[in-house]
Amino acid sequence: MHWFHKYCDFVKWLNKQTLRVKMRRGKQRVYFNKGFHSQKNLLSLEHIDELVDKGEILKRGNSTTVSKVELNDQTVVIKRYNTNSIWSGIKQLVKVTYAYNCWFIAHWLRWNNISTPKPLAVVELKLGFLWKRSYLITEYAPFCSLDDFLQDPTHSEINIDKTEQRIRVLFSTLRKAHVSHGDFKSSNLLCLQDDICLVDLDHAYFHFVGVMLLLRLKRDKKRFLKNFNDSSKLQERFRKVLSK
Ligand SMILES: Nc1ncnc2c1ncn2[C@@H]1O[C@H](COP(=O)(O)OP(=O)(O)O)[C@@H](O)[C@H]1O
Ligand SMILES: [Mg+2]
Repeated sequence: MHWFHKYCDFVKWLNKQTLRVKMRRGKQRVYFNKGFHSQKNLLSLEHIDELVDKGEILKRGNSTTVSKVELNDQTVVIKRYNTNSIWSGIKQLVKVTYAYNCWFIAHWLRWNNISTPKPLAVVELKLGFLWKRSYLITEYAPFCSLDDFLQDPTHSEINIDKTEQRIRVLFSTLRKAHVSHGDFKSSNLLCLQDDICLVDLDHAYFHFVGVMLLLRLKRDKKRFLKNFNDSSKLQERFRKVLSK
């Protein structure tokens, strides 16, 4: 049960690390990483929708918008989650918001030396009876996608070698951290020469039950290999690495 003690220590640490602030007569709740908390940031976050809409949109989906924003001299990424159905509103009555889940998992991954952009804050906006919107703010990671990294013609063989090692280590560390990611698309893997950074933790979970963890990680590996459907050679190389 070594991991369980580690998990309990982590929860204590995260509680100490987090500052909870209520605003707009209790309708807006912000969880701050202590280092990111300032009066200036707090005031800016009062107008978070404006910040998202004026920023550089990295992706606009049905239920989420991802925007790169300059926030008081710091480049951050804000991901907005809309509760766009009654069902997702009801789910969020009993579960934490998507943004909070990502915040928790991102801290846990970093605690386990798995690279993911540093989470800075979570904003939850209550509109009516149900929690309607939540926002995750993270540091901007100036990395390129896994696809671009592997195809970089100047050193693609070196990059493939490095990625093989990193992917092997990444999966074994995820297993030790009891986490599955849930969406191992190459666009959710940001690369730098010495790092692979996981983003999009919307469907990432911490598993208390070992069997579930193994099943979900198997699914993650399958999804990861699907990234190379167009290149059977690469797919085979990564399949070998992951079967070791
Ligand atoms: N912290 C970040 N730093 C740099 N780029 C990011 C960051 N977060 C997300 N992105 C970019 O935005 C894209 C969309 O974000 P993501 O969380 O994957 O949204 P979605 O759930 O819509 O796929 C990612 O594929 C990545 O390229
Ligand atoms: Mg994504």
